[in-house]
Amino acid sequence: MNWPVEHQQPRWPDLGELADVESTLGDLPSLVSPRDCDDLRRRLASVARGEGFLLQGGDCAELFTAPLTEPTENKLRCLADMAAVLTSGSGLPTLTVGRLAGQYAKPRSASTETKDGRTLPVYRGDAVNDVRFDTKSRTPDPLRLLAAYRAADGILSDIRRLRMRNRALFTDLGGSFFTSHEALLLPYETALTKVDPASGQKYGLSGHLLWIGERTRQLDGPHVAFAAAVSNPVAVKIGPTTTRTDIAKLIELIDPRREPGRLTFITRLGANAVHDRLPLLVDEVLAQGSPATWVCDPMHGNTYTTPDGIKTRRFEAIWAEIRGFFEVHRALGTHPGGLHLELTSRDVTECVGSHSPVLERDLHLRYESACDPRLNGAQALELARLVAPLLRPASQGLEVLEDAATRG
Ligand code: PEP
Ligand code: CO
Repeated sequence: MNWPVEHQQPRWPDLGELADVESTLGDLPSLVSPRDCDDLRRRLASVARGEGFLLQGGDCAELFTAPLTEPTENKLRCLADMAAVLTSGSGLPTLTVGRLAGQYAKPRSASTETKDGRTLPVYRGDAVNDVRFDTKSRTPDPLRLLAAYRAADGILSDIRRLRMRNRALFTDLGGSFFTSHEALLLPYETALTKVDPASGQKYGLSGHLLWIGERTRQLDGPHVAFAAAVSNPVAVKIGPTTTRTDIAKLIELIDPRREPGRLTFITRLGANAVHDRLPLLVDEVLAQGSPATWVCDPMHGNTYTTPDGIKTRRFEAIWAEIRGFFEVHRALGTHPGGLHLELTSRDVTECVGSHSPVLERDLHLRYESACDPRLNGAQALELARLVAPLLRPASQGLEVLEDAATRG
């Protein structure tokens, strides 16, 4: 069956072929283990308690060829450098999670793209079609789901190798490293969902942390149902139209038992809306007695298109949304638990601004992203340097409050 458009599934031309691929995928070994998913859930629970900070980052859309242009080691090094800055500046351990080894599918605002008078299906990520603009490339191909599995498997092997070989890297990564992606393509995700014989629980074993995107978080939709059915830690992206009722119902559906570490809300409100919208969402989470982890995605609410038609984001807007996120959480006494970033170690020109500024007129020079604009390595590190002190006063502030409490 082809899903209604709001569920963001490709129009697969041959559903029989899709079914064959699903059955092949179902017979392949799981990419991650339930035990590691549980480990991440415990670590996210400690982040939610204010005992750590989550750094989640990577490409907007991973390409199958990515390891050739940006070796996995470079991606991990970039996150490790940021984590080291955050940890040494704040005193809080950093939990690192890559937006990788599965980030091969993209939700899109329009289902077609027109260029030079030709209209073709939009690029939906390497797991679906090819970014090149011709009919063959843009036709969804279910065999790409198998290629996505193999690409993810290759990156997970790289990570295992690096863990053995490069202790310094893993020390900077905080001692562990987990994978995450948007659980968008239902055939891929459900084929890789297995019952763990040890616990009898179902897990989505395509990645450790799976998230539901802003466009597919319908309360009665198949993505939220998928998130509710698996025992992984899961996240939901929430944008400026999110209501209190949405929050209450998401908690009821996904985390009815209020398990610490189970549910993360990734807010992507935009620098202008964060002060307005975040307080009521946080208030609703508190009213529900939910231990949800709060993470700020300062990227997706701050995208704009230049007069030349290039999609970009201003470093200053990204930084402003992060500051707003911290201010709101500080005011409400909740923990600003982490950051979700689109970034690359490469010296790309995709986001404008920062210390060694990329200007709008430079964007075409090294714009390599297949989808949204990413921070380059220097911009990412600069952001970590700015954020670290925001974490520090909090723990000191907390100690002062705790001292006052124990003195009576
Ligand atoms: C993304 O993370 O690339 C994305 C599409 O985000 P959102 O669902 O928040 O729009
Ligand atoms: Co994106």
